[in-house]
Amino acid sequence: MSVLTIAMPKGRIFEEAAALLVKAGYEIPPDLDDSRKLIIDVPAENMRFILAKPMDVTTYVEHGVADVGIAGKDVMLEEERDVYEVLDLKISHCYLAVAGLPGTEMQDVAPKIATKYPGIASRYFREQGEQVEIVKLNGSIELAPMIGLSDRIVDIVSTGRTLKENGLVEFERIVDITSRLIVNPVSYRLKDEQIDELVDRLAQVVEEA
Ligand code: PRP
Repeated sequence: MSVLTIAMPKGRIFEEAAALLVKAGYEIPPDLDDSRKLIIDVPAENMRFILAKPMDVTTYVEHGVADVGIAGKDVMLEEERDVYEVLDLKISHCYLAVAGLPGTEMQDVAPKIATKYPGIASRYFREQGEQVEIVKLNGSIELAPMIGLSDRIVDIVSTGRTLKENGLVEFERIVDITSRLIVNPVSYRLKDEQIDELVDRLAQVVEEA
């Protein structure tokens, strides 16, 4: 049986995702992301884990260098990738929202929207019939309205602490987000038994949660 390569998101989602695999009975080392190693082989399970930036998991899976991956729905919505989304893992709950400084209106002409999600943000405002200018940032999005770079932000809200501690408020909720199990279409044909087993075992754990 060939090795199953799994792209895991480093950072916030990682722990919940790894815990899910452990609950599903996979014997993976508890300190999987403690080292700086980016590839971790688990021969006992015939698995190889690659630790990727959350935004890049879909890229690895689409190119087939990872057979499966765990990716946030936000990433899936931002980039329409040629991968199968097979299971809602119901972990890392958060949502995308429009936020800004309290009591402010958006500029009438070409209001600026700062975001890490230019695709989702432009689609959202187009659907609202608003013409906006998107300012792409890579993180610390909340800075933008505070220092006058943008009228609004489109960003992830989890606990709401970042907004609160920076004196920002939420104006609209766009979409709820959880992590998903995604699969490369070719891998699904070639390694169907291994992948089906992973999906079934994870689905059971998700259902019991
Ligand atoms: C995310 C998001 C918000 C924050 C929300 O950023 O972009 O800034 O978390 O979480 P909260 O509602 O619990 O405060 P992240 O920490 O992933 O880093 P980033 O600023 O680099 O995007």
